[in-house]
Amino acid sequence: MAQTLRRGPVSGTAVAQKRKRKPFLVDLYATAVGKKYVMAITGLAMIGFVVVHMLGNLKLFQAETSPGVYPIDAYGDWLRSLLYPALPKYGTLWLLRVGLLGAVLLHVHAAYGLTVMNRKARPVRYQSSRDYQIATFASRSMRWTGIIVLAFIVWHLADLTLGWVNPDFVYGEVYRNVDASLSRIPVAIFYIIANIALGIHLFHGVWSLFQSMGWNNPRFNSWRRSLATGIATAVVVGNVSFPIAVLAGVVSHPSV
Ligand code: HEM
Repeated sequence: MAQTLRRGPVSGTAVAQKRKRKPFLVDLYATAVGKKYVMAITGLAMIGFVVVHMLGNLKLFQAETSPGVYPIDAYGDWLRSLLYPALPKYGTLWLLRVGLLGAVLLHVHAAYGLTVMNRKARPVRYQSSRDYQIATFASRSMRWTGIIVLAFIVWHLADLTLGWVNPDFVYGEVYRNVDASLSRIPVAIFYIIANIALGIHLFHGVWSLFQSMGWNNPRFNSWRRSLATGIATAVVVGNVSFPIAVLAGVVSHPSV
């Protein structure tokens, strides 16, 4: 009698699994390329802020327009109430604050995610010393300079925006507050070190931003290097000039 062969299920047969589709941007962010885009775009926004902030702070060098009236105080008032009365008095300020905080958080989150991905891709550490000629000093130090800048931002907000760590702080009196803060030598030194760290971070950040966005034709390398050097140098020279000017007595408020 002919035997009928009964086949069981074949192991290894592909079974169509229903994968929940995530929004495109979430899927993209899960990849290394997506994280690099996020670092580049948020980095660009923060570079814009840092450059504009440094240029605005140059008003510290503008002389009093009349006794006790400092151009940087008026500039601070104007900035805090930007687009008023089209928007509520501090509406733009809060939009900028939320945007900036979002950019910082995303930048740090993507950096952390990339570090974890790199570690997983190479669980065994390099056995020989790495070729540090390829990785420049700036690129190797990104994590450390980033942490110094983050610590600086926390101190800086407590110092010149909230006045928590600045005993002579008076709300709205920017010229006086900067003098009161930077007359303290350890604080001035911290500002100088943090801004040099920021410059190193910016140099490598501007350079790698082009790589991350895919704008890295070797023909433009010297142009890229000049832009990175120019932005980093301008920010460091500008920002370091403020503590030096206070210590030298060039910026000096009569009641500090
Ligand atoms: C020596 C260099 C700097 C000086 C003299 C300076 C000065 C100031 C002053 C006076 C304020 C308060 C403005 C006001 O209340 O009207 C301020 C706010 C602020 N600064 Fe700086 N700054 C410097 C560098 C930096 C750097 C390098 C960063 C970022 C990396 C930064 C980020 C900020 C932020 C986020 C605020 C808060 C803005 C707000 O929400 O009100 N500053 N800065």
